[in-house]
Amino acid sequence: MEQFAPACPLDIRMLPLTLRRGDGRRRWLLAAVLVLLGCMGSVRAEDGYDLWLRYTPVGSTLTDAYRMRLGDVVAPDATVTQRVARDELMRGLSGLLGSAPRQRTDGAGQSLLVLGTPQSSRWVAPFRRELDAIGDEGYLLRRAKLDGRDVLLVAARQDIGVLYGVFHLLRLLQTGTALEGLDIRESPAMRLRVLNHWDNLDGYVERGYAGGSLWDWHTLPDWRDPRYTDYARANASLGINGTVLNNVNANALSLSPEYLRKAAALADVFRPYGIRVYLSARFSAPIEIGGLATADPLDPDVQRWWRKKADEIYAVIPDFGGFLVKANSEGQPGPQDYGRSHADGANLLADALAPHGGVVMWRAFVYAHDVPEDRAKQAYNEFVGLDGAFRRNVLLQVKNGPIDFQPREPFHPLFGAMPKTPLMMEFQITKEYLGFATHLVYLGPLYEDVLGADTHARGPGSTVARVIDGSLDGHSLTGIAGVANIGDDRTWSGSHFDQANWYVFGRLAWNPRQSTRAIAADWVAMTFSRDAGVVQPVVDMMMASREAAVDYMTPLGLHHVMARGHHYGPGPWVDGGPRADWTSVYYHRADRDGIGFDRSRRGSDAVSQYAPAVAGTLDDVARVPESLLLWFHHVPWDHRMASGRPLWDELVHRYSRGVRQVEAMQATWDGMRDRVDAPRHAHVAAFLRIQRNEAQWWRDASVAYFQSINGRPLPAGEAPPPHPLAYYRSLQFPFALGDGR
Ligand code: GCU
Repeated sequence: MEQFAPACPLDIRMLPLTLRRGDGRRRWLLAAVLVLLGCMGSVRAEDGYDLWLRYTPVGSTLTDAYRMRLGDVVAPDATVTQRVARDELMRGLSGLLGSAPRQRTDGAGQSLLVLGTPQSSRWVAPFRRELDAIGDEGYLLRRAKLDGRDVLLVAARQDIGVLYGVFHLLRLLQTGTALEGLDIRESPAMRLRVLNHWDNLDGYVERGYAGGSLWDWHTLPDWRDPRYTDYARANASLGINGTVLNNVNANALSLSPEYLRKAAALADVFRPYGIRVYLSARFSAPIEIGGLATADPLDPDVQRWWRKKADEIYAVIPDFGGFLVKANSEGQPGPQDYGRSHADGANLLADALAPHGGVVMWRAFVYAHDVPEDRAKQAYNEFVGLDGAFRRNVLLQVKNGPIDFQPREPFHPLFGAMPKTPLMMEFQITKEYLGFATHLVYLGPLYEDVLGADTHARGPGSTVARVIDGSLDGHSLTGIAGVANIGDDRTWSGSHFDQANWYVFGRLAWNPRQSTRAIAADWVAMTFSRDAGVVQPVVDMMMASREAAVDYMTPLGLHHVMARGHHYGPGPWVDGGPRADWTSVYYHRADRDGIGFDRSRRGSDAVSQYAPAVAGTLDDVARVPESLLLWFHHVPWDHRMASGRPLWDELVHRYSRGVRQVEAMQATWDGMRDRVDAPRHAHVAAFLRIQRNEAQWWRDASVAYFQSINGRPLPAGEAPPPHPLAYYRSLQFPFALGDGR
């Protein structure tokens, strides 16, 4: 399929099943239909490239209903964003309804679809006051009677809001929603909705499982791959408005004039779609590319260097968003190299960006192995005392949990603990610890759990969502970041179902209170099929998938038990090496008597970093949720669980349950064979087979290892691992994907 070929108006899935499966005569008929419609050369071979923006025909009943309502289109085209909005609408409607509606400039016609802002459209002008109230990125979708005509308005204060509104309208059509009584007002809950690409300048993506980097630095700025535009379209369809182009483990060269020109070319492509470019800044850049002897944030030459650098950036990227910084973490340079604080470092860059309106997203992911303190406590200890010490254009970017994107973590204790500082959420979309791109794990429930968690910082109802959307502590500078799972793979995300994780991140960034089940239903309808016989079971499968992965990888609050370095597969035996906090035994602390990390008041006391109401629950082994039991407590192997089973039996039970759940997912997907296109069906089915085998591997290796520690028999009915522990320990994966380098 050509990237930009218009969709064939005939989608083979629209034909009755009997025709698709039928005998020779029926098949002949099918071929004839295809030829007649002139589609023989362009029947869609679904390969995932189109993501959720496939715009396949909605079927005759809906087409008639929509055509009646959508009639003629009146859309301004004076600015590039206006043209992008109109073109997307036309592209969408042509695909969905089989032909593009008429475009009018005069507003004649009985049922109009009107796009515009109060400045660009006389039809929208009367709504100016209402639009002012929904802000610069908000929009209205409304049916109204204007001048005696039936009008469907996609109205906003700014052009970008119109584009967002167009994507929303197209989503309603793609999901088969009735347009009667349409009245939607939307505005984003957070200001910065950003993807973080961990892409290196040589095209390698750290923790990337979807091929190489999308950015072809070699041919930029002259060649602007059309794929950059499709990337922007996909992001704009979700309301994502920022992208950090390079890895947090940054190369200072990203800030060199040559690479800034390349970044500027990308910024030019993204600008019409409301997407700003940001860069990860290497703290020692003044030394590495500036020729200075120091990067000390209090040194006047260093300050001058960053100011000049900011001026230089804004000269080529006038709407540059700002810097993302990983400092004094995992070997990266930072202000502490000069005895300065994280606030000194962040403020240095913030002062340089402030005259241009840029922001600093300073990461809180810091920990050091020479600090004799539970790693889970270190970021809080480092930052909580700096509350109020940051400039107004600094956000602190905090990972969702206190360790590192594990299949399940409690929410990070910094949320709610720094009321004077805007805290930004950092989720990981790429599945470094959740089976890479091969395992089907929908991250919606993980994100939803974290966003809905109650910090109790200002009493009950102080959810993490309210911390990051600024409503809890009255911040207007707010944001959310997702570590992208995007690469140059044809599917963008390395697998079809990983597209859903990009999708759900974007939808939640717009509104963190949405149900991730509902978001999954939209995604399935847009990506695979609107057929309820697909949506219902596939959504159920997706919703259960995260818990399945937790079960076969890290049940009951276990964490950081993966293989060393590349993190592919199980490694509960990992010990030794340069840093204790990069081993598994540091985290599970299993011995003959019990298992788990004692973070209670009697242990590392990490619980006390949470508000008292939360700390009390977590500290109490009888009240802590079982899903986090071994995160917070070291408990005996025969500790009685809610199920009545001893802990050891429960652990094994959960590992096995995870494997069975993947088998159930396979069965669900097998049932979709005739309902989704063959190429994508086969791809997903193959990946599910990999996942099934790897789930079994996780289960067997983990059971073998923990049994070697506790010497206990397996619970009745549980199959012993087919290999001895030594076998699992001996497995090597020298070319596993995405390893940090
Ligand atoms: C994890 C990941 C690294 C990454 C780091 C970070 O540790 O494995 O590759 O650099 O997180 O978030 O900075």
